[in-house]
Amino acid sequence: MPSIGEEAVERIRRDHGHMLHLIDRIRSECTERGKISNCNECHPTRQGVCHGNIEQMFRSFVETTLKHNLIESMFMEDRVPAAHRMAHNQAHMDIAQQLKAIRLVFSEDGNCVVAIEGIDHIHKVLLEHLKEYDQQLEAYLLEAALAQQP
Ligand SMILES: [Fe+2]
Ligand SMILES: [Fe+2]
Repeated sequence: MPSIGEEAVERIRRDHGHMLHLIDRIRSECTERGKISNCNECHPTRQGVCHGNIEQMFRSFVETTLKHNLIESMFMEDRVPAAHRMAHNQAHMDIAQQLKAIRLVFSEDGNCVVAIEGIDHIHKVLLEHLKEYDQQLEAYLLEAALAQQP
C-alpha cells in the first residue's frame, strides 16, 4: 500500500499534469497567434467561439491551480521545515496574484491574444516553481514516508 507521503506526491504530480495540459489547450485554441495583436482583428464568428472557450478553460485552469496550491500547503503542514513552507507559500501567493492580473485582461478588453501572452508567462513561472519548490516538497514528503516505515 502506498504511504501518505507517496499518495501526496502522486496527487501533486497528477495535478501538475492536468495544469500543464490545460495550458496547452488554451494556447492551441487561438489559431491566429503571431498574426494579429488583438482579437478585434479576427473574424467575428471565430472570435466569439474562441473567446468563450479560452475564458472557460482559463477559469478552470485558475481554479485547478489555486486548489492545487492549497493542497500543497496542506501537505506541507508539519512535514517540511518552516523555512521551506514559508517561502513556498509565498511563491504560491505570487502565482495567485499573476493569475488575477490575467483574469483582469479578460474582463477589461477581452483580448485573448494578450491573455495568452500572460498564460505563456504563467507557464514559465510554473515550470520554474516546479523546479524550485515542488521538487523539494516531493523530496520532503517521500523522506517523511520513508521515516514512517516500520
Ligand atoms: Fe508549489
Ligand atoms: Fe505544485
